[in-house]
Amino acid sequence: MRRVFTSIGLASVLFVSVHAVSIAADDGASNEVVYKSPGESYKEDGKYFLKESDNPIYNKNDKDEWDWLTFNGNRRYHAECHVCHGPLGLGSSFAPALATSLKTLSYEKFRDVVVNGRSVKQPDGSVNSMPSFGNNKNVMCFLDDFYLYLKARADGVLGPIPHRVMKKEAKSKDIREEEAECFGDS
Ligand code: HEC
Repeated sequence: MRRVFTSIGLASVLFVSVHAVSIAADDGASNEVVYKSPGESYKEDGKYFLKESDNPIYNKNDKDEWDWLTFNGNRRYHAECHVCHGPLGLGSSFAPALATSLKTLSYEKFRDVVVNGRSVKQPDGSVNSMPSFGNNKNVMCFLDDFYLYLKARADGVLGPIPHRVMKKEAKSKDIREEEAECFGDS
């Protein structure tokens, strides 16, 4: 599934940026969140990647627009993961707070758990089960989107805002095509 980067040389390189932004929380209160990209990144086909690892990373541009994948991850989290992991990645009584997990969980481990699922037996004999989403295209076609939304939440750069009020970059032609291909529409 991992993409091969053949045109890294052509990718535009972006530099670490820090700027303060004001975002409205769900309850209408204003939270001051400092946005800091976690390393040098480059943009390719409407997506952002860390130079160091070529792993995807979230981005917010000078117009305060989030990258499409992070926006989409926010939108889709609520359809696919919210029921167990709670609103905004904050956790529930039976599934962990992903906005905390992703402070330490690697990109590879995240993908592994979501694709393959995981069951862990508890001391009282009950089993905690994360289902495998390997056959669910509504999750598999957007794995990086989920990761980026939760990573931005975990890094404290994206506040508890509904996707509807997130300013975002346009969906690129490449993202559109990859999505159609993943769903087998092309
Ligand atoms: C049916 C309930 C359920 C749904 C739906 C669900 N999960 Fe989970 N998930 C769990 C449970 C329970 C665990 C804890 C498993 C364990 O104890 O190892 C878990 C664990 C995880 C972990 C590992 C967290 C850690 O701290 O190691 C990740 C990552 C994860 N889920 C991502 C997702 C994503 C992304 C979605 C939506 C696409 C999702 N889950 C949907 C129940 C669910």
